[in-house]
Amino acid sequence: MQRTQIAGGHSLGFQTLEEERSLEAVPVEGTLPGWLAGSLFRMGPAKFEAGEHHYQHWFDGLAMLHRFTFAGGAVSYANRFLASPAYRAAREQNRIVYSEFATDPCRSLFKRVATAFSPPASGHNANVNLTRLGDAFLALTETPLPVVFDPQTLQTLGVAEPAPGQLTVAHPHQSPNTGELISYATHFGPLTTYRVYAQQPRGRRRMIAKLPVSRPAYMHSFAITERYVVLVEFPFVVVPLTIPLSGRPFIENYRWRPQRGTHFRVIELDTGKLRGTYEGEPFFAFHHVNAFERDGELMVDLCAYDDAEIVRGLYLDRLRQQHPALPAPQLRRCRLHLDRKTVESERLADAGLELPRIDYRRRNGRSYRYVYGIAQREGGDFPDQLAKVDIEHGETRVWSEPGTYPGEPVFVPEPNAANEDAGVLLSVALDTAARSSFLLILDAGNLNELARARVPHHIPFGFHGQYFGGFA
Ligand SMILES: [Fe+2]
Repeated sequence: MQRTQIAGGHSLGFQTLEEERSLEAVPVEGTLPGWLAGSLFRMGPAKFEAGEHHYQHWFDGLAMLHRFTFAGGAVSYANRFLASPAYRAAREQNRIVYSEFATDPCRSLFKRVATAFSPPASGHNANVNLTRLGDAFLALTETPLPVVFDPQTLQTLGVAEPAPGQLTVAHPHQSPNTGELISYATHFGPLTTYRVYAQQPRGRRRMIAKLPVSRPAYMHSFAITERYVVLVEFPFVVVPLTIPLSGRPFIENYRWRPQRGTHFRVIELDTGKLRGTYEGEPFFAFHHVNAFERDGELMVDLCAYDDAEIVRGLYLDRLRQQHPALPAPQLRRCRLHLDRKTVESERLADAGLELPRIDYRRRNGRSYRYVYGIAQREGGDFPDQLAKVDIEHGETRVWSEPGTYPGEPVFVPEPNAANEDAGVLLSVALDTAARSSFLLILDAGNLNELARARVPHHIPFGFHGQYFGGFA
């Protein structure tokens, strides 16, 4: 089919999707691998306004779940809004009621003071990621309450135990050793602390460490190895006491302070002891790729930016107008020499990768060779490629199609295969010419297309997804 590229067509990915559907079969072009039996769940914002009110930032839109289920070579699909307090209030009152990352519906000064250092008035709009803890499926964002949903119906069921602070991450890790869920939260108060903890199914929780901090950093994710948790404090920091009275949305309280440099806090997983704090050059990142130890060094790989300008770049008005161009990330390795206390950085590839994924089940916290992510063509207006980087050889391979914007590629390993890249990548792609989205299934080895399964509507650009094998 002849395709023409529509300039700025990607702004469709930031338009509201109202329809909730459950489709028993969506049309499939190509052939799915016979071993692929399970479900891909994806999370992202899908509604960007309520009445006359508009959300400001990509991270603010109201959460929607999508599920693609694979069985016997066929694909079914369902999508549903998360029925969070934020969503229900927006529907019932036809306005934005709860504060989000960068949207504040004008809370009064009295309310700000009253909520200082108490749990924030969160609408639990868990639009960033999801995970599974035992039998519970949890939708996650950076406010502390995970939202529990039914994986069959996608109905919202309630909330789970809150993280031990007012701000957390939507990127918990599994301990490479015990399989426990590891995460951290910032607990704001007269003495603010980072609290690293381990969570087991059915509520058992173990506090690993409490680290005092006077100027907490905004950290969207963190690193884990077999022995350590690493909190990378970028110099994008806040003075806790100023938040309640600032009158600004949450993230606009943070300031870029490059003179502080970047602090790597290395914490022992077993004991909670601080192994050391290592200081490096100032930079910013949302996403860690992986981390591991080798020969007395700790490698911390991430998608790095020169500064925190990317946070401003993701305001919806800028994204829709494509102006200015988004800062480019760099796939970077920070090498922490554990005894010498030095930090050295190196670029791992020319490709600027984001929304990185690896063979998490086998390589998390261990040495690895391949990373997959979205990337942007030279001169492109928004990430429009899928890329695979061979870190050992610094080689990059890409998939792209004109007018098509693929999202985070989730790697699914082929059962019992030895090679790290034996498996498929699952990515939801926006086809701007057709004004609809499709699930793209690539061979992770060579990035050749195996199949695509198209839904009848556009799926707004989301953030993260997880695949659960056998869940069909
Ligand atoms: Fe993220």
